[in-house]
Amino acid sequence: MRSQTPFGKGGLSLLAITLLLLAAAPAACAEEAPLAVRLVDQFNAMFGAHPGFRANHAKGAVFEGTFTPAPTAKALSSAAHLQSTPVPVIVRFSNGGGLPDMPDTHPSYRTRGMAIKFHLPSGSDTDIVAISTNGFPVSNGEDFLALLKAVSASGPGAPKPTPLETFLAAHPVTAKAVSVPQPIPASYATQAYFGVNAFKFTNAEGASKFGRYRVIPEAGESYLSDADAARLPPNFLSDTVRERVKTAPVKFKLLVQLAEPGDAITDATAVWPDSRPTVELGEIAITTVDPDSLGHEKKLLFVPTNVTAGIVPSDDPIIALRAQAYGVSFARRSK
Ligand code: HEM
Repeated sequence: MRSQTPFGKGGLSLLAITLLLLAAAPAACAEEAPLAVRLVDQFNAMFGAHPGFRANHAKGAVFEGTFTPAPTAKALSSAAHLQSTPVPVIVRFSNGGGLPDMPDTHPSYRTRGMAIKFHLPSGSDTDIVAISTNGFPVSNGEDFLALLKAVSASGPGAPKPTPLETFLAAHPVTAKAVSVPQPIPASYATQAYFGVNAFKFTNAEGASKFGRYRVIPEAGESYLSDADAARLPPNFLSDTVRERVKTAPVKFKLLVQLAEPGDAITDATAVWPDSRPTVELGEIAITTVDPDSLGHEKKLLFVPTNVTAGIVPSDDPIIALRAQAYGVSFARRSK
């Protein structure tokens, strides 16, 4: 039985928690600052100061492993890690929200993250930053900021209709997205992750296709009832990965879902039908627990624009904005 959040059963966790815990966030955002700065300001206002931690997805765990490209990968992209040689990867799993000490069992923080850094033979690296929802609740940063502010202003006692209710009434796509259930996985290793934003993949012959990443657990997806999750220790999502790698690698398939003509490339709210074909890029095998996960995650920065030749971001405005916002958050947490 999943718990009811202000967004429906298991609805969008990052937003729900602010309703549950905060009556109103301070008006901390200077309107003249760049949008990325205002977004990070808003996260900081919602979750408070946690020096050294990410403004969002603050709680995480770092692992190491190997990515082995599939034979089908090079037909899609000439990217160095998609040819024939396995490359080392760093993986950071995370929970959405800006609280580094939240329990994994929290009923409202339900978005999970999986960030992957591929170390390329050239010595550079490239990233994928994915979440557990297939799609995003808004299509641009202005709407995201407005949504976060509406949430912050809609705590207990807010007059009806609350700013959030007003926002959702004016943005039916967002209302639909935040009502999609987000069950708690049995482990980070049993959750599917989605790149959400589209990228353009170009092969050695110069042929290009747009697609979105999917990261699928080979052990199968597995989710818990809220009652079962509530009995588990606060870090069970990463503890279970730590336990599993003692006996065998924790494996995921990396896929790209391909767009068909007419599919929205630059709108992360527009989920493509599951019937769209996928290309298998390869297998991520997590083999090692980072013994200094907390220390290393502070130095790590995963950015969706950290691509390599053969892959370029689409014109989805959220991609460039994410890169800016992650840079702002990184600068703050690195002080
Ligand atoms: C405008 C939209 C978004 C904003 C403003 C935003 C903001 C942020 C910020 C400030 C961070 C902390 C970055 C750091 O300190 O390194 C973060 C982390 C993260 N975000 Fe976003 N985000 C957005 C959209 C997305 C989307 C669409 C996805 C997934 C497809 C996503 C997945 C993640 C993940 C997985 C992390 C943790 C990365 C890590 O482990 O280092 N975010 N986000």
